[in-house]
Amino acid sequence: MANRFTGRCAVVTGAAAGIGRAAAVHLAAEGGRVCLIDVDFKGLEETRNYIKNAGGEAFIAQCDVSSEASVSAAMKSAEENYGSVRILFNNAGTESGDGLTDTLDLAAWEHIHSVNTRGPFLVAKYALQSMLRGGGGVITTTSSIAGLIGTAGLHAYSTSKGAVIALTRAWAVTYAKQGIRANAICPGLVMTPMVARIGQQFIEGATAMTPLGRGADPAEIANLVAFLSSDEASFITGAIIPIDGGYTAQ
Ligand SMILES: NC(=O)c1ccc[n+]([C@@H]2O[C@H](COP(=O)([O-])OP(=O)(O)OC[C@H]3O[C@@H](n4cnc5c(N)ncnc54)[C@H](O)[C@@H]3O)[C@@H](O)[C@H]2O)c1
Repeated sequence: MANRFTGRCAVVTGAAAGIGRAAAVHLAAEGGRVCLIDVDFKGLEETRNYIKNAGGEAFIAQCDVSSEASVSAAMKSAEENYGSVRILFNNAGTESGDGLTDTLDLAAWEHIHSVNTRGPFLVAKYALQSMLRGGGGVITTTSSIAGLIGTAGLHAYSTSKGAVIALTRAWAVTYAKQGIRANAICPGLVMTPMVARIGQQFIEGATAMTPLGRGADPAEIANLVAFLSSDEASFITGAIIPIDGGYTAQ
């Protein structure tokens, strides 16, 4: 593996499982010093153990991304431990309680938006402050193909994922001159605890709809996150990148 992030402070949200864990492990394997953020402390410890056992560097900042006090404290500790934030993978998200507009509880709508829209805004707010102090950085935010195309069952989730695409474009054009890039990735089916929770029927339906005929391994998403976070992607900003086995090409 290359060593593209040696010594750089990298913040990863949703790092206790799935795509966030895979990205944290990858960034650390290439020399990044990774601040692991999630609500799930046990999962964070497992991610930290993977990284430490492979000789990498990481520390845990347990944090609810929907709470400004929690995010502010976590980002302060990231900077104190590893210096100004150079890389943010803005990835924590939830689908929990989602459904159809005609029957969806307002509380479920509010919860999904608090994690998936307010969360990335708050984490980026403090990461941007740190990047501006440090002279630059790169933000990659996890949207979804649900933010690009109509999805039948996840109405709050879809709008929250559309919102982070708009935010990404705003960050890209606003902070480019200060050496900050911002991109969003739009995964299709990825085999993580999230899709296991949604259920086997969903997995089978999404697999059948995917031209490559399978879900992604989280490590395949981590490869894209690492590329976008690296200097190899130095001319890529404001990009909204599907990584979906061909799903949105249909
Ligand atoms: N798995 C897929 O098929 C898929 C497809 C497209 C997009 N995504 C997106 O990818 C991202 C990662 O999803 P995943 O599939 O790895 O899911 P996951 O459920 O396996 O992991 C999500 C992580 O986010 C954490 N989290 C949830 N709420 C939080 C909060 N308030 N504060 C901090 N952490 C919180 C969870 O504890 C969990 O560890 C999400 O934004 C999701 O919407 C997933």
